[in-house]
Amino acid sequence: MMVPELGVDELRLREAGPPDVPHLVLLRNGAREWFFDPNEVTSEGTLAWLDRSKAAGELNWVVEAKGEVIGTISAIPSDRGVEVGRMIVAPAHQGRGVMKRALRMVVEALADHFPGPIFLEVRPDNGKARNLYENVGFTVTRLRMEWHDPAV
Ligand SMILES: CC(C)(COP(=O)(O)OP(=O)(O)OC[C@H]1O[C@@H](n2cnc3c(N)ncnc32)[C@H](O)[C@@H]1OP(=O)(O)O)[C@@H](O)C(=O)NCCC(=O)NCCS
Repeated sequence: MMVPELGVDELRLREAGPPDVPHLVLLRNGAREWFFDPNEVTSEGTLAWLDRSKAAGELNWVVEAKGEVIGTISAIPSDRGVEVGRMIVAPAHQGRGVMKRALRMVVEALADHFPGPIFLEVRPDNGKARNLYENVGFTVTRLRMEWHDPAV
């Protein structure tokens, strides 16, 4: 599947490319406590990752509002279905329904292309993200015990 351009209201989702790396680094490093791999990322590492990710058939979008990159979302197809992930909204734009609209658009686009389940993983104590996913219609099917402890 090509990375489709998606849009609603003032939001536009377009394929993330090399010029977006500075935004991707800022967004990711500002939210790393919420991800399974909490390590800081670098520009070089992110550029190489973007290349590998695209080659592997993953779909990476940036979320833009009025031409400004304010978030990211990805879809990772595998033999288990399609995982939606790397969902981040810049702190100044959180709580205004940005990711709710972005996630709905992505889920709709994926449902048209992939027959299997659409799933995601979230830390149990990430209340904001869990509320969002439940609002969009996701339900809990599995608990995984190996999340890192952010206090360690
Ligand atoms: C999780 C995240 C992507 C949500 O993006 P967002 O654009 O702020 O979310 P939205 O404004 O679309 O919120 C949608 C729903 O999320 C929930 N939500 C949002 N902000 C919340 C808050 N401060 N407290 C509790 N629930 C909240 C609500 O259920 C909301 O639905 P409602 O508007 O109908 O009440 C964003 O907070 C973020 O980037 N967090 C850091 C990174 C992260 O945790 N990513 C997810 C990893 S799995």
